[in-house]
Amino acid sequence: MACALLNGRAVPSSPRLITTCLCVFSFLVTYLCYCALFSADAVIMQTPGDLPRGCRRASVDGGGKRRLQKSVSCVIPFDEGERDHVRALPHRNNTQSSAPVTAKFGNKKLPNAIIVGVKKGGTRAVLEFIRIHPDVRAVGTETHFFDRNHDRGLDWYRSLMPRTLEGQISMEKTPSYFVTADAPRRIAAMSRHTKLIVVVRDPVTRAISDYTQTLTKTPDLPSFQELAFLNQSQGLVDASWNAIRIGLYALHLECWLRHFPLEQIHFVSGERLITDPAGELARVQDFLGLKRIVTDKHFYFNRTKGFPCLKKPESSVSPRCLGKSKGRTHVQIDREAVDQLRDFYRPHNVRFYEMVGFDFRWE
Ligand code: A3P
Repeated sequence: MACALLNGRAVPSSPRLITTCLCVFSFLVTYLCYCALFSADAVIMQTPGDLPRGCRRASVDGGGKRRLQKSVSCVIPFDEGERDHVRALPHRNNTQSSAPVTAKFGNKKLPNAIIVGVKKGGTRAVLEFIRIHPDVRAVGTETHFFDRNHDRGLDWYRSLMPRTLEGQISMEKTPSYFVTADAPRRIAAMSRHTKLIVVVRDPVTRAISDYTQTLTKTPDLPSFQELAFLNQSQGLVDASWNAIRIGLYALHLECWLRHFPLEQIHFVSGERLITDPAGELARVQDFLGLKRIVTDKHFYFNRTKGFPCLKKPESSVSPRCLGKSKGRTHVQIDREAVDQLRDFYRPHNVRFYEMVGFDFRWE
């Protein structure tokens, strides 16, 4: 009937038929208008500005069907979302706990700098303090590549490194390198430009600290004096005992100087690291060619621990002190043994001061 009406062939004769036709016609017109409006609304609602960024791109370069397909991309890919998250974060301190945030970005490269020693000198403190610098990324654990794991090859070593972005330096610390005969040559073979950091401490205190640590793991250890002296009444020190041998800094340094110039080795005072951590860290940053970002405002002295700790980062609830194994109460050693050891180390210390051009005043 509608067709007949439109063709003008059917001429309605009764008023009732005319009314019916008008109703049907107006219904059709209303329906068509509604459809037109509805589909236009749908397009208006999906303007790029209303969509998440991932969708915007899709809707800009696609038609209706394409827009629908691309709307799947409104689920932001994991990688992209993570990258945005990294940008949104304030520059983080790169403790192990926060490492996964940047885990997917940057490249793993061989270390630019290594803390090579010395055991119980304060190496953990230096690493933890320097790694709050935004341009430093560090391996948290000791890799022991240049002493125990050298056979595994440089690719293995590189795989342990944290990812670094452009401008960031990569670091690790393994204190046993300082007393490993092959370590200087091996590190130089990796790169002659590697910067080396040695944290040194009064060798007598260092030896007692070392012994205290071993004693916590091996309670039935002979006494310190039994191990330190071949004959205590004659003042004969056993320099082959590791705890004593490590403190012969001048001797070990000689091996390093065969492969690295002195300017490439920075010595941190283990004593000043406790009394003035910011001062020591300023020198470490200068040596590494970094802007001085780690300053005294990052530290406070924790009376309970008796050591400087890092102030609470914004993202954390608690301040950060080193663990219980750092800053132990030492085993008491009688005065006479300590004096004998001081006598033993004195000429070695003097030689060391001359070699490095600095008097550490270990008296
Ligand atoms: P003690 O436990 O004998 O006191 P390393 O990390 O090389 O093993 O050195 C451990 C030593 O770091 C500790 O030896 C401690 O004296 C020293 N140290 C330096 N700064 C420290 C800090 N801020 N907190 C704890 N220990 C620190």
